[in-house]
Amino acid sequence: MKFQTVCFFILVTTGFAEFPDGFLFPDDFLLGAATASYQIEGGWDADGKGDNIWDTLTHERPQYVDDHSSGDVADDSYHLYLEDVKLLKAMGAQWYRFSISWARILPEGHDNYVNQPGIDYYNNLINCLLDNGIEPMVTMYHWDLPQRLQDLGGWPNWVLATYSENYARVLFKNFGDRVKLWQTFNEPQTFMDGYCSDTGMAPSINAPGIGDYLTAHTVILAHANIYRLYEREFKQQQQGKVGIALNIQWCEPETSDDVDACDRYYQFNFGIFAHPILSEEGDYPSVENERVDNNSAQEGYTTSRLPKFTQEEVTFRKGTLDFMGHNFYTAVRGREGVRGGSPSRSRDSGMIRFLDPKWPGSASSWLRVVPWGFRNTLNRIAKEYGNPPVLVTENGFSDYGGLNDTYRVLYYTEHLKEMLKAIHEDGVNVIGYTAWSLVDNFEWLRGYTEKFGVYEVDFNDPSRPRTPKESAKVLTEIFKTRRIPD
Ligand code: NOJ
Repeated sequence: MKFQTVCFFILVTTGFAEFPDGFLFPDDFLLGAATASYQIEGGWDADGKGDNIWDTLTHERPQYVDDHSSGDVADDSYHLYLEDVKLLKAMGAQWYRFSISWARILPEGHDNYVNQPGIDYYNNLINCLLDNGIEPMVTMYHWDLPQRLQDLGGWPNWVLATYSENYARVLFKNFGDRVKLWQTFNEPQTFMDGYCSDTGMAPSINAPGIGDYLTAHTVILAHANIYRLYEREFKQQQQGKVGIALNIQWCEPETSDDVDACDRYYQFNFGIFAHPILSEEGDYPSVENERVDNNSAQEGYTTSRLPKFTQEEVTFRKGTLDFMGHNFYTAVRGREGVRGGSPSRSRDSGMIRFLDPKWPGSASSWLRVVPWGFRNTLNRIAKEYGNPPVLVTENGFSDYGGLNDTYRVLYYTEHLKEMLKAIHEDGVNVIGYTAWSLVDNFEWLRGYTEKFGVYEVDFNDPSRPRTPKESAKVLTEIFKTRRIPD
């Protein structure tokens, strides 16, 4: 940790020297915090909720999670949501990004049966937020697929594009009078890996280079269905906006010969979703189509591992986005090359990624602190997709706990500065920011070993007390003064 400390301070000192004018947020810029249902709610079988794929994974294969824990109780936000709203209010948050648990609303996954206590829970949360002047932003899917739909094959089954639309209709009908910001999916790039290997994210199915592409395909179709549904049946009356949250890490080429490799990394992980929705062609990035088709043929497949869109689907889907949600955490280094033998996305993209030991670390193996990568990534999105409105839907730092979280404070201030440079100096159209996360929570396969919250939660205490860390105090100051302190 000592080495990381030194690096961090060098980085911060340089940062301060460059910006004498202070860092002000634009007047209408939204500042807030984020969470997700499975990571905070608990109440895993409360009041008629159905099982989801994380209930199944954590109950049946607890050894997959570092501390063998689960989200059964987590932060108990199912019972303590009033506490969460209090924290948001105390911070001066203008908006709160949370997700809805599909199986709490539709225990079977289908809309044949709607679980009223689930509807009541989110109604109470939404109303309480609004009573406190906090705008709700809802993520419809943050990785907790109803188990019943996984039993049908999960995301690789294209029928889920229709079932997602039906689920979304229930949400628009019940909450759309008050919720004006919707995100269809959170980080499909990450959850499609749950269909790549049987040691990973739920549902942990081993079909690399196939399950991930099939998942992406369904997700893109589902996203478009939901967007068009809103446009057709709800938008005129409800006047809301629909987007998607995509993550990407900045890729720094190892040498000047590795620029294309980084570009392919970007196309295979971000372009795979953004391109079909936002590009003129309305298709997967051409480099991805070509490489997966070629590799598939060489491997003896008669049908490419990457599915194709029909012309009708292309037309239906193009432009189905009111804003781009963007989750940014870190960077990787990339170089040309192929690792591994079996089909996989990294093999198809032909890029080897690794971490630069000079970049300061965190409690998460993958998270290095590279704030300038944030500005670069925002610029890249703006350049490639015509400067769409961007909501930064996640950004945050992990440690092992403690109230004196100096590194998290530095992480936030440095990243916010880079974002403000992108806005003020580069003209990138960023319209809001949520910190990940409001509270320490269940960090998927890492369980409770890594902490991302700005409020500490005592998971050993049944009442789950929340205590502000230093970072909560600093974010409060930033949110209330709308500037980064010197
Ligand atoms: C992104 C995911 O959306 C969120 O659920 C997770 O906790 C953070 N990354 C940190 O890993």
